This record gives sequence, C-alpha cells and structure tokens, in this order.
Amino acid sequence: MKPVDILILGSGIAGLSFAIQLAERRPGVSIRVCSKADTLETNTRYAQGGIAAVTDFTADSFEQHIRDTFTAGRGHCNKNAVRAIIEAAPERIAELAQWGVPFDRNTKGKWDLGLEGGHSRPRILHCRDRTGFDIVQALLRRAGSYKNITFYPGLFAVDLLVRNNQCYGIRYMDTGNGEIKSSYAKITFLATGGSGQVFRITTNPKIATGDGVAMAARAGVEIGNMAFYQFHPTALAAGQSNPAFLISEAVRGFGAYIINAEGERFLFRYHPRGELATRDIVSHAIFSEYGKNKMNRVYLDCRHLDKTKFHRHFPGIADRCRKTGFDLFKTPVPVMPAAHYQCGGIAISLQGKTSVKNLYANGECACSGLHGANRLASNSLLEAVVIAHKAAVEISSIIDYIAFPVFPEIPGNPGRGTGRKIMPDEVKRIKRQLQELMYNYYTGKTAGSRTEKEVVKIRELVSRKGDLPKRAGSLSRELCELENMITIARLML
Ligand code: FAD
Ligand code: SIN
Repeated sequence: MKPVDILILGSGIAGLSFAIQLAERRPGVSIRVCSKADTLETNTRYAQGGIAAVTDFTADSFEQHIRDTFTAGRGHCNKNAVRAIIEAAPERIAELAQWGVPFDRNTKGKWDLGLEGGHSRPRILHCRDRTGFDIVQALLRRAGSYKNITFYPGLFAVDLLVRNNQCYGIRYMDTGNGEIKSSYAKITFLATGGSGQVFRITTNPKIATGDGVAMAARAGVEIGNMAFYQFHPTALAAGQSNPAFLISEAVRGFGAYIINAEGERFLFRYHPRGELATRDIVSHAIFSEYGKNKMNRVYLDCRHLDKTKFHRHFPGIADRCRKTGFDLFKTPVPVMPAAHYQCGGIAISLQGKTSVKNLYANGECACSGLHGANRLASNSLLEAVVIAHKAAVEISSIIDYIAFPVFPEIPGNPGRGTGRKIMPDEVKRIKRQLQELMYNYYTGKTAGSRTEKEVVKIRELVSRKGDLPKRAGSLSRELCELENMITIARLML
C-alpha cells in the first residue's frame, strides 16, 4: 500500500471528524480512513441518547456541566481537560449541525434538550433515539466530499510500527486474503473505539475488542485509567445478550422508573437522585438488589408515560421492545447492567498526542482525562469531536515538517499474525471463558487476584496453541482479537 500522510484507524466519530477537520484545512494532505469491518460498523452508529453540551445559557452554564462531569468522575478527572472540552462544545455542536446532523428541535424552534443520569440540567442534543447513526451518516457524507480522504474498509491493523519511540505506520492484515503487509505514514491516528467485547454482557458491537489500546500497549505507548470500565444499567435483558440492546438513559430522563421484583422504586434507597443518579451508582444498586431478590431481575417501568410522546422521542427503542415481545405501556421490561464504555485508554494531550512521536489517538480508545473513573452520560461523542478539532489544528501546522521516513523493514511484534494458528472453535471457547471471567469480576462475583491468575492461564494457553505448527483454518483475525482482548483484560486488572 502506498505511504500516506495521515493514516487513520477507525471510521467512528473520532476518526471521521478528525479526517474532515484536517481535509478542510489541508486539501493537499493525503488521508486514509481504515476500518476492520464495514465503514459504518462502529460503536458510534449505536449511540442513542445524544451529545452533551451547554447551549441554553439562560438555564445552564459551563460551570454546572463541569461540576456534573467531576462528580460523575469521582475525583479522577483532569481539571484542564474537563474545562477545555466543555467550553469548546457549543462551537462543535454548531459545526455538526452545519454539516447536516439533524438534531431535534422543540416547538419553539430551539434545540430539544434531553436529560440523562448525573446531569443537573437538560443539555443533551439528540436525533430521536438514533443520534449516533445520524451523526455517522452526516460525517460520511461530508468526508466523501473531500478528494484527499480515501476509505479502506476490511483492513485489520495488527500492530504499530514503532522504533526509537517514533511511529511509522502499522502492520495489517488484509481481511480479504489474509495477507500481512505494512502501511507507512507520517502520522498514525488511532480511533479504534472501545473494548466492551471483553465482557460476556455488553452493549458494544462485535468489533469492540480493544485493538488500538492493545497495539499501543505492546508498542510501549503510555496507557491510563484502564481499571475504570463503565457499566450501563439498562440493557434489555431478553433476546440476544451479546451485544445486548441498550435502552437509553434518556428514557429515564423522560420519566421511566426502575423497579424491583416487588414493584418498588428501590433506587432512592441508594441515592437521592434515584433513577437519575450517575450510571455507576445505578448499576451498583442493581447488583446489590440482585443479592436480595433471588430472581436477579429488575425492570424498567414506562407504563405511566405519555405513549404518543414516547413514540416520537424513542421510536427505535419502542420498536425493538415490541419485536422482543414487550409492550412498554402494558408491562415493565426486564433490564440489566451491561459493559458499556472504556473510561481509560491511550494517554493523550488535548491535541490527541500520545507518548510516542507521530502517533495520535482520539475517542473511546484514548484517555484525555475528561471521564475520570466514570463517564458522565453523553460526554463521549462530545470529547471525540472536540479533540478531533484540536488535533487537526495542531497537525495541519506540523505535517509539512515531518519527512516521509525511508523505511528499512521494521519488525513488528515478531510472528504476530503469521504462523499463529488456532482452531476457530477453540478461539470461540477461550473467548467465552475470558468474557465470563471479566464479567464476573467486574460485577463483584469473583476476586481480583483470582481473576488475574485465570487471565494469565488463558494467556499462556493461547501462546502455547499459537506456537503450534501450522494447523487447519485460515489466518485468523479472530485470534488477533482474542490476544488483544486478553491484553485489555490484563490492563484492566
Ligand atoms: P467507534 O465508533 O467504535 O469506531 C471504531 C472504529 O475503529 C471502527 O471503524 C472499527 O472498524 C475501527 N477499528 C477497530 N479496531 C481496528 C483494527 N484492528 N484495525 C482497523 N480498524 C479498527 N456516547 C455518547 O456520548 N452518547 C450516547 O448517546 C452514546 N450511546 C451509546 C450507545 C451504545 C449502544 C454504545 C455501544 C455506545 C454509546 N455511547 C454513547 C458511546 C459512544 O458511542 C462511543 O464511545 C463512541 O461512539 C466511540 O467512537 P470512536 O470513534 O472512538 O469508536
Ligand atoms: C444512552 O443513551 O443511555 C447512552 C448514553 C451514553 O453512553 O453516553
């Protein structure tokens, strides 16, 4: 593959918004956006609730949004990052709207602002309950209008090419023919998303295997806060459980209750804000309630809500519940906490800079310090667009001074992706074992040291199998993903 100025791994909000920002500033710079699956298949496309920003300065303020973010983050947020990201929000929202994101408006023509857990004011901009999908569509349309942005779906990045603390590109697998090749760039930009698939129950799609963080960790890039993984309290507890269908927190902002098997709104026993406490508190309260209620069941109760308005705001959620056999207005719907968001990741500056030269990161794979121990609802999409903008401003001014390196063949992680054969059903079995272990550990069923030992055993099992001579089955993206998931599990533990 021809070297390129900017190699972006990831076609979600973090990668696409950066590509657009840079293309707009530097039409002569070549930008390649790669994704391991279909361009559209990202965490971003499933985002429901929306994007948090202060836009109504009569009822809200930056100070309140900052305070709410800090409270949610339990003292682990970075002060400068929180202020800078929140204060940059209105400008980025106006830009998204100008790029064609159809945020809902109220009858007065103003933004229709939703409320979610941990927010002291309604400040969530949304496109009904399919905000992520509408954002990706608008970004793809916009990115497609720049001649210097090219797309490369079906490219699975295996490792970063890093030498002397400088990044030169990646080693990748062409998922079409399984070949391992190198791709060189002046700047490599990681926007590879989260790692929910490390857990048995998750809202994240199958692509969320933590590849970017695992690659960065192998290359010695600084990683932070990986222990802080967020569970979302209200995934639908029926039908397919991986990925589990999310019922947005905005539904509770709209007035839905969470009740136990006795029909009690028990959350006020745990926090004065009840259903609108932050999601770490709500999820924890649900797990505690499980201990008391042998059924291990809690429910989302929408029976008292206005049906017409609900359908207008949440058509996708109402439809999915109906298809799964639940009429939200007749019966409470079973819900459960599910692994949702990786709060830590590759340590970055506000411009997306990592600890390795010419390597940047953004979005869920990165850790800017905004989220601390627990992300405030709808702050993720916001963080990605703000950092994308700041990174593009910085990179557009330095890209001309970075020379295309003359490349001797740089060894990646030796042997990765080559000759490591393992049967597909073994990969599936080991993956299930890991997901079960991590889910049990994070939901309090097992102790840390025991889980750590088990993960080490799994790691050994995979390397032993990997060293076996060639076996049946094709060169496997699944095996690389499993190795990445094990790396992520160890970083979390
Ligand atoms: P993603 O959108 O996940 O994109 C990752 C990209 O990286 C993909 O293109 C993938 O193919 C590529 N990639 C990964 N590994 C490789 C590899 N090895 N090689 C090549 N390419 C690779 N946040 C909010 O703020 N508001 C919400 O309302 C909201 N709702 C959510 C609802 C759901 C169901 C989920 C799952 C998440 C939600 N979130 C929400 C979180 C938010 O959607 C994500 O944090 C955010 O979209 C992540 O964007 P990203 O660009 O970093 O990664
Ligand atoms: C939701 O809609 O509940 C998800 C919002 C988020 O993850 O920020």
